[in-house]
Amino acid sequence: MMREWWRDAVVYEVYVRSFADSDGDGVGDLEGIRSRLPHLVSLGVDAVWLTPFYPSPMADHGYDVADYCDVEPLFGDLPAFDRLLAEAHEQGLRVIVDVVPNHTSSAHEWFREALADPTSPARSRYVFRDGRGDGSLPPNNWQSVFGGDAWTRVPDGQWYLHMFDEGQPDLDWDNREVHEEFLRILRFWLDRGVDGFRIDVAHSLYKNPAMDDARDPLPGEDPGDVTSAHVWDREEVLAVYEEWRALLDGYTPDRMLVGEVFLFDVPRIARYVSDERLHQAFNFTVMRTEWDAPALRTTLREALAHFSPGTWVLSNHDLVRHVTRYGGGSLGRRRGLAVSALLFALPGSPYLYQGEELGLDEAQVPRDRKQDPWFLRTAGANPGRDGCRTPIPWDSAAPGLGFTTGEPWLPFGEDAAALAVDRQLTDSASTLHAYRRLLSVRRALLDEGLPDEVAELATAPDVLAYRRGPLVAVLNTAAEPVQVELPGAVLLEATAEGAAVAAGIVTVPAAATVWLRA
Ligand code: GLC
Repeated sequence: MMREWWRDAVVYEVYVRSFADSDGDGVGDLEGIRSRLPHLVSLGVDAVWLTPFYPSPMADHGYDVADYCDVEPLFGDLPAFDRLLAEAHEQGLRVIVDVVPNHTSSAHEWFREALADPTSPARSRYVFRDGRGDGSLPPNNWQSVFGGDAWTRVPDGQWYLHMFDEGQPDLDWDNREVHEEFLRILRFWLDRGVDGFRIDVAHSLYKNPAMDDARDPLPGEDPGDVTSAHVWDREEVLAVYEEWRALLDGYTPDRMLVGEVFLFDVPRIARYVSDERLHQAFNFTVMRTEWDAPALRTTLREALAHFSPGTWVLSNHDLVRHVTRYGGGSLGRRRGLAVSALLFALPGSPYLYQGEELGLDEAQVPRDRKQDPWFLRTAGANPGRDGCRTPIPWDSAAPGLGFTTGEPWLPFGEDAAALAVDRQLTDSASTLHAYRRLLSVRRALLDEGLPDEVAELATAPDVLAYRRGPLVAVLNTAAEPVQVELPGAVLLEATAEGAAVAAGIVTVPAAATVWLRA
């Protein structure tokens, strides 16, 4: 049997608003993405995941979908999507689109019907409840992820639930019509030829039907976190993915589902993934782990034990860029590349976020330019996610850095011109070239045949080493080079200068990963 393409695919997340703007309005679009496909091909990724490009009032930059089967005019139209899909396929790239089943936009026709007529069938597709007391208090104390009450009152006096922005009313998955509608939406995109779906907040959908209050937060605890037990990871959600899987299994060539299961308990994440449920779920545990060998070792051990081949995620459009998490600037870039190289050597599917191949830092977006509802709803208490969403710098000499001919919707990061694609292409020591080399060696090794089994090798406390068939990857987290004994090893790749092999002794530079054939 042919190995399924997604098992070790490298998937590149395109945050549509910030990738490439073809029409000068300062916002990225589908034509812009199409024009930049060669960048992705030469980077060596296998698939592209597009964040939501559907009609939307943009209360949450597209994660508030008003129509699941069309294209937001800011981004293009359906013919532009079809052109992008066809061209990606011609260039050997698969395309995954985002599906947002936990909530719609408040501008969705269902929600508009639900508001216009409390007796309409659309009303019961959302979570409306009476308030407490004389009705003027929210039905319970649940908090929105973005801050503030998870309930908003409507003119007829009832309240609706929104785990995110008030422009994102939660759907009621106990209503069968909701299931049917999403099956229709999936078919719509499958029939157009997409290769898979990334499922937004895949661990939510069902809420505790008792709708009782969340306990009081402990001192220092985020009030949002105590709501979690009522709204995330309820057993009923798994059956939804069994239905979706059955639908996808009817399509050839094979399509896939990857869930944003934002949990950190690896065995619980693993429940979402099986031959009857999702093909993949994001594994965010490495993202949560600091630059520390024992901590990384524990995280990887657990992931490999319960969830392999799985996925690897260091960054995305919701998280502080990993270069910044690892110390920022050249130190953060060096560490980030080292961890990436280690993950690329392990079984599973790495998910890359646009700009990480350039080593971009989190941008310092001035307060008056911030747009994230998380920042706005918390009056700035949460810094928001704008800093990882700034535009991609393509051309250091062009006015909008080749991203746009107009005014970009978010400012560029401070390091953007220095790290622009054109500059990195002319520098063989750049992060971009390192990603290209690593992904091309990885592909060649996979084509030769790499097993899914991996063995942890005992080395030094600051060092992580794994053997996978002929490939050995060694990460040195120390600030000094280390030497590791590995008879017969041949150096394949290194993420920093100074790697060497002599008489069976491998020198691994400080904060670097080396790949060896052993
Ligand atoms: C997911 C998305 C995030 C969005 C949220 C609500 O976590 O990745 O960007 O704000 O869902 O849809």
